[in-house]
Amino acid sequence: MVAPDSHCSVQAVVLVGGEGTRLRPLTLETPKPMVPIMNVPFLERTLRRLKEAGIDDVILPAGYLPEAITSYFGDGKWLGLRIRYVIEDVPLGTAGALKNVEQYIDGPFLVLNGDVLTALDLRAMLDYHRAKGGIATMHLIRVDDPSPFGVAVHDANGRIERFVEKPKREDAPSNEINAGTYILEREILDLIPPGRAVSIERETFPALIASGRGLYAYTTADYWIDLGRPEAYLDAHRHIFEGAMPLGPAPEVDGPGRESVPAAAVRPPVFIGRDCRIAPDAIVGPYTVLGDGCEIQSGATVADSLLWDGVVVEAGAELNWTIVASRARIGAGAHVGRGAVIGHDARIGPGTIVAANARIAAERPEATDQTV
Ligand code: GTP
Repeated sequence: MVAPDSHCSVQAVVLVGGEGTRLRPLTLETPKPMVPIMNVPFLERTLRRLKEAGIDDVILPAGYLPEAITSYFGDGKWLGLRIRYVIEDVPLGTAGALKNVEQYIDGPFLVLNGDVLTALDLRAMLDYHRAKGGIATMHLIRVDDPSPFGVAVHDANGRIERFVEKPKREDAPSNEINAGTYILEREILDLIPPGRAVSIERETFPALIASGRGLYAYTTADYWIDLGRPEAYLDAHRHIFEGAMPLGPAPEVDGPGRESVPAAAVRPPVFIGRDCRIAPDAIVGPYTVLGDGCEIQSGATVADSLLWDGVVVEAGAELNWTIVASRARIGAGAHVGRGAVIGHDARIGPGTIVAANARIAAERPEATDQTV
């Protein structure tokens, strides 16, 4: 065991190898951990959180579009971290990925899902883990509808007794769900078979409970959201704008390019990237993020939407509650329906009506759902 106040010696493994299928087409080119939150890759925010918590030794098991991650973070020195990557030839699942990095693990370690945005205090969780003395501690949060999640049942002392994965809402044994952050003692790796895909949720934690060794619940009321679905990704930004998720102050108009917004066009709150061009008679906002180098032409409206870098919205086009990936172009007078997700480099023709919740990918025209 490490000394109680020594957080520095704890390592962290951030799981970043998933394909992020539910976020397609955004994840066809950008792996989910690199999806921007207020124009900064989500994984960068996670790594900075680790650094703040005194953890500077990070292992990233990757496999899907890994170069996007390795080329951005390198050896991690620029973040004050030591980052090592282990690339999977085939996906090994959430526990198989841990077994596969066993040679780098020296002692107790944190595991973070690469798609969870939370204000969880990692130091407080580490203190709790040490106080309980179990082999594993799992962060839980309470939600109104636990049915899409792994639901945990624990006793009054916090000891987890069982899990139910994605129960029917009426059958859920509690409303406390696995929030995707764990602290594990190294010996848990002995429970994971090598060389094949293993799910920590479905195999390792149930095996741990069956073995009688302590798996403890750490339930908090912190802000938490799983960014895995487009609606959640949009919601997360709204929550950040509203101050529910502390990413620093959320002023009315923010971002490195805030000077470039003509006052008449802005409907706060908005976050504007560098080098954007916005027509004075366009409408940008509320709850809108523009990446770097976006262009919003005359009479266009972009509300409740997230635009990545280099997106062009031509004259009179309308976007409301949408996500548009880098370099896509929305033609003049087009109307993009609520919940639609437009992929990298996609072209929406002038006057096109894009159906609500459509997924439009430039690379895969057969996957589009486009009505005119
Ligand atoms: P969906 O395909 O939309 O379900 O997303 P996902 O593949 O990312 O799966 P999920 O959200 O269940 O994964 C939770 C976390 O584990 C994410 O941070 C994933 O990147 C990561 N992950 C999932 N499967 C693997 C894997 O096989 N290997 C590694 N290294 N990480 C994984």
